Amino acid sequence: MMLSKEFKMVKEKSANFIIFGGSGDLAHRKLYPSLFRLYKAGYLKDHFAVIGTARRPWSDDYFRETIVASLKEYFTDDEKIMSEFAKHFFYQSHDVNDSAHYIALKNLAAKLNDQFEAENNRVYYMAIAPKFFGVVAEHINSEGLKTKDGYNRLVIEKPFGRDLDSACELNGNIAKAFPEDDIYRIDHYLGKEMIQDIPNIRANNPKFEEALNNKYVSNIQVTLAESLGVEDRGGYYETSGVLRDMIQNHIMQIVGAIASDDPAAKRAKDIHKNKTDLFASLKNLTPEQVDTNFVRGQYDIDESGTEKAYRQEDNVAEDSEIETYTAGKIEFDTERWDGVPFYVRSGKRMPNKASRIDIVFNDKVAELGINANTVVTLLIERTNNQSILINGVNYAESAQDFIKFPEEAEFTTGREAYASLIIDILSGNRVHFTLWDELRSTWKYIDSIRERWDSQKADFPNYMSGTMGPDASEMLLERDGNSWIWD
Ligand SMILES: NC(=O)c1ccc[n+]([C@@H]2O[C@H](COP(=O)([O-])OP(=O)(O)OC[C@H]3O[C@@H](n4cnc5c(N)ncnc54)[C@H](OP(=O)(O)O)[C@@H]3O)[C@@H](O)[C@H]2O)c1
Repeated sequence: MMLSKEFKMVKEKSANFIIFGGSGDLAHRKLYPSLFRLYKAGYLKDHFAVIGTARRPWSDDYFRETIVASLKEYFTDDEKIMSEFAKHFFYQSHDVNDSAHYIALKNLAAKLNDQFEAENNRVYYMAIAPKFFGVVAEHINSEGLKTKDGYNRLVIEKPFGRDLDSACELNGNIAKAFPEDDIYRIDHYLGKEMIQDIPNIRANNPKFEEALNNKYVSNIQVTLAESLGVEDRGGYYETSGVLRDMIQNHIMQIVGAIASDDPAAKRAKDIHKNKTDLFASLKNLTPEQVDTNFVRGQYDIDESGTEKAYRQEDNVAEDSEIETYTAGKIEFDTERWDGVPFYVRSGKRMPNKASRIDIVFNDKVAELGINANTVVTLLIERTNNQSILINGVNYAESAQDFIKFPEEAEFTTGREAYASLIIDILSGNRVHFTLWDELRSTWKYIDSIRERWDSQKADFPNYMSGTMGPDASEMLLERDGNSWIWD
């Protein structure tokens, strides 16, 4: 594996991870492979230990076997390296509601801290159902798991609530146990290389940045499209839908990266303030505006009848009103963006997987020497340096040269989102995590859409699998004289 510059520069860190839900899917598919990446890069070496905890009564040896087995799915390294890595892992059977188990966990953590000289640094990772986030945080505090000399950082997976009220309640419970500065709320899109590079790209391309406002931008489009359906996650999806699962968090954060003021800001505090201010300026929607500005859809069978409709999926109600597709027009009440529609969409069973930002300039942009109506596309899943397109052509081959990757942002392999976020957690860098103030604004906005939809019967299913979503999604833009760039 080639290592990115970041990985080469970092020094070994000391920490003890306690992973709640250590036997689960997220831990095995994302966390352990990411920790292994950091181990191979030398970022984690001798001074780290990982306690996996969950109810099932596994032994340390069995736990380690499951880790090596999951690593083999992603890496071709010698098994010896994987086994060496796995020696840092320990298992503690634990029910999150049982106070006595936290004492056992505390004792094990203290022992491992001494054994691995982890400098009393603790990372508590919630890879567990959201309903347990509050109870775990409270017990970590009340049962005295927190160390005095090192740091104690709490990592929370999504979803952070299911509406503003539940997010407030959850945040209240967590805040009783951890100060906001020690809370790391994961939105894994913020760990993606392209999203992290956007401030760099903006700050290093003055003409592009000069054009990023309502004088020169016609509209901005954010698309997160998946070709798969809900697969085996029907049960979860029935409690969520794409509005909560993708728009409230990932799409909003991507919009935040492209639309926040002052991309050159370096301090986490300033970057978060810019994003918080942006989200606070979201133009609220009346119920009637929800009807005109947002579209919901649910997939049907495909043309040949081989793919199931959403309502036929396992653990999905036959008359489910859960949306698998959403498109919408978001607007901000700021001097910079007033009048510029941000069209966003995300859906399942679309023709292809796509994650992209399309910035559509108007004709006035010619004043800046940029061709009228130019479209700049940022591909979020970077695979190489082809990830900025100008009118569909790689920026390096385009006749226009107002935008390119700054040198320090050149594409590097090995920077996987979760690994990158874990480095940030170990370094105490909260830039790529979401703050409570941001979530409060985005939930408030999403709630207004949800409330309107919940009060009206949906005409589902309304798009065929393998298509671009319901027709209303095209009309949403046509009404404004615009059209989707990725079509
Ligand atoms: N999987 C993903 O790709 C993904 C992506 C984004 C976010 N997330 C979030 O990550 C979290 C975990 O998801 P997951 O997919 O990994 O779920 P999962 O596979 O069902 O894992 C849940 C874990 O929680 C443990 N657990 C359940 N009840 C418990 C209890 N009462 N006490 C102690 N441990 C208990 C389970 O083990 P036992 O049954 O042995 O107790 C298991 O280890 C969720 O919040 C999810 O929303 C997951």
